[in-house]
Amino acid sequence: MNAHAAATPTELSGIELAHPIINGSGTFDAIAARRVFGDALIGQFPFAAFVSKTVTVAPREGNPPPRLWETPGGLINSIGLPNKGLRRYLAEDLPELAALPVPLIVNVMGFTGDEVVELVSAFSVRDEVAALELNVSCPNVETGLVMGADPGEVTALLRRVRPLTEKPLIVKLTPNATDVVAVARAAQDAGASAVSLINTIRGMALDPRTGHPWLGGTTGGVSGPAVRAVALAQVHAVARGVGIPIVAMGGVQNGRDALDLIMAGATVVAVGTESFRDPAAGTRISRELAALCENSSISRHGTPLNC
Ligand SMILES: Cc1cc2nc3c(=O)[nH]c(=O)nc-3n(C[C@H](O)[C@H](O)[C@H](O)COP(=O)(O)O)c2cc1C
Repeated sequence: MNAHAAATPTELSGIELAHPIINGSGTFDAIAARRVFGDALIGQFPFAAFVSKTVTVAPREGNPPPRLWETPGGLINSIGLPNKGLRRYLAEDLPELAALPVPLIVNVMGFTGDEVVELVSAFSVRDEVAALELNVSCPNVETGLVMGADPGEVTALLRRVRPLTEKPLIVKLTPNATDVVAVARAAQDAGASAVSLINTIRGMALDPRTGHPWLGGTTGGVSGPAVRAVALAQVHAVARGVGIPIVAMGGVQNGRDALDLIMAGATVVAVGTESFRDPAAGTRISRELAALCENSSISRHGTPLNC
């Protein structure tokens, strides 16, 4: 294998990417990383685009500790989306993130349709933002339904926010749904530019001393290699159900894992939990992927892969 194979430029809903590897929301803090690594991070940014952690309208403290549990082959996190809220994000974080050498995708989540409208409207007028990712893994407090678990909720949400922006809208699907393909189709039919999957899978750990839930949030989201097979199955199914591009993630640790998701139908692959183990994982995985793709025998349905 040629470890120095050239990365293949990729396009995602009109956004030019130097290669197909980006980060999963909430798993790489570019502002903190820049503070630690300085300009070295700018010169050698590990991802072809940067996806922000979820931004909500109001500031959030996040869940009470403990927030993490290491499980065989992965993590369970119950971070609870701590963030400084829309106003401070626009004033403090956006200018810093705009200095990154790659396109910026802002991940947003609202607890009502009105909140999502506010978030999409605020970012749609910001030139620093290349695309928006809608995290629909939370309950709609008006209906009690998890937005991303119900095709009707996704349709209603997209009908409201799609007309508000010309930027690409990527809908981040939850794997905790009865029919993920039906939700993906609803997103496509209501104007989503792309879908991303998988978010974390609901899981739990007990404190061995007490038998009570370990995590402050009682349950959390499972990520890492433990979810890779689930991600592959869901990406494969969604790719057969929709025609819009797919950003695939779930347990990717190396170029082979990324290639599997591309062969299953993904255009772009995101790296999440692996970046906690190795902050430069994105660079390594994009190189490994490029080297694998130089092997001309790799194709999808007879068509050579562009990866
Ligand atoms: C600690 C942690 C924080 C996360 N925060 C977010 C978040 O803020 N928004 C979001 O949409 N997904 C979030 N995710 C989900 C990841 O973006 C990704 O979908 C998931 O972890 C699967 O990929 P992986 O197995 O490579 O980690 C988070 C995951 C982890 C592990």
